[in-house]
Amino acid sequence: MTTPIQTSTGAAHTRILGIGGYRPSRVVSNAEICEQIDSSDEWIRTRSGIVERRWAEDHETVQAMSVGAARDALKHAGVAPEQIGCVIVATVSHLLQTPAVAPLIATELGTTKAAAFDISAACAGFCHGVALGSDLIRAGSAKYVLAIGVERLSDITDRTDRGTAFIFADGAGAAVIGPSDEPGIGPVVWGSEGEQFDLIRQNEKWPQAIDAGDKVMPTLRMDGNPVFRWASFEMAKIAREALDLAGVALEDLDAFVPHQANMRITDAMARALRLPDNVKIARDIATQGNTSAASVPLAMLRMYDEGTLKSGDTALMIAFGAGLVYAAQVVTVP
Ligand code: UT7
Repeated sequence: MTTPIQTSTGAAHTRILGIGGYRPSRVVSNAEICEQIDSSDEWIRTRSGIVERRWAEDHETVQAMSVGAARDALKHAGVAPEQIGCVIVATVSHLLQTPAVAPLIATELGTTKAAAFDISAACAGFCHGVALGSDLIRAGSAKYVLAIGVERLSDITDRTDRGTAFIFADGAGAAVIGPSDEPGIGPVVWGSEGEQFDLIRQNEKWPQAIDAGDKVMPTLRMDGNPVFRWASFEMAKIAREALDLAGVALEDLDAFVPHQANMRITDAMARALRLPDNVKIARDIATQGNTSAASVPLAMLRMYDEGTLKSGDTALMIAFGAGLVYAAQVVTVP
């Protein structure tokens, strides 16, 4: 006879208890970007909505920015590092194949040997992390989870590439997720479209770069326009599904916090969703650039700091990127 194995169950519901962020100190203007590509301030503003972006200085490492954002989120949540059972770090720019950066972050924060691992879901990484964190808590695998989205994309951006140099940026955002009496994180709608794998990717594999012998790191390449069209139209459907699964009507939504990929994509999704005028829309990209996994928490944080969002509001988060992959969910603002 098979020996029965006990299983765990956790909290009935979860919510985001606190959010935090880290914005690198160096502000990079469109004029500076245009020193290396044939472009203009006007083109960049009109086509992407980016006025300036943040790039990390040497000391603003993936680990340092993550710890800064996480401390902020823990403070906001009123949760001590020792209470964190799992640290999930979403990133594509921790430039060591192994180990993951999450254990270093968990240790520096002072967690008590929390489970810690990285996930690679590009710009959708943070929303994947929130979904995983919520499910881990409901399954009883952890009581409190720290989900971090962090990037130093300036390290892997070719500054002479007209298609990407102006768009990508650096930063970190974090959320503490924990048990809740009421549902505070709706079901995730997520997925992947591997047939579109090549639209955004590292330009070559490491061995190819080594064989080429030119001592140049691989960088990101993006076929921007197909991604733009896919995100503008297909992602609105995913966002609507997330609302439906959460049982939240458009009229009951307070804020729309999409991945800060391009201001025009945000506008197109808002139009396709027919968002009512009173729904606040995150527009952090203007001064922060596209920070991939960090963009959703940083965008939410700005709205929170500026008073556009308040605790208890209902927000729709959606993110999409290389893979292509996507994830969306409705959350209660901490
Ligand atoms: O975060 C992960 C997911 N990423 C995204 O969601 C990004 C999605 N893509 C985009 O945001 C946009 O595609 C870009 C902002 C990257 C580009 O905007 P676009 O409207 O799709 O431009 P395009 O690539 O269709 O190019 C339009 C024109 C072309 O010139 P012609 O053929 O019309 O004469 C390009 O050569 O703009 C030209 N162009 C530029 N001009 C000045 C392309 N890049 C530049 C540039 N400066 N940097």
